Amino acid sequence: MVERSEAEALAQALLAGELPRRWQHSVGVARQADRLAASGGFEGDLLVGAAWLHDIGYSSQLVDTGFHPIDGARHLRGLGADERLVNLVAHHS
Ligand SMILES: [Fe+2]
Repeated sequence: MVERSEAEALAQALLAGELPRRWQHSVGVARQADRLAASGGFEGDLLVGAAWLHDIGYSSQLVDTGFHPIDGARHLRGLGADERLVNLVAHHS
């Protein structure tokens, strides 16, 4: 499992310097996910973690296939992340 703070830190490390607009997009998505999670009925840590991490596959450090959802998901799987988180990143649109 990747905790919320770990998800934010990982996304920041991979996106903020290289891809600041992508990073700002991720910050916005995470804020929306936080609001949604606070309303209940969701697994908040999983939802917010996926929001932070959904676009990490754009990082040049992770590009492999060139399809960012898959590249991000493969990286997370390699880190031993929860398979549900891996799948949310792999299948986001
Ligand atoms: Fe994306």
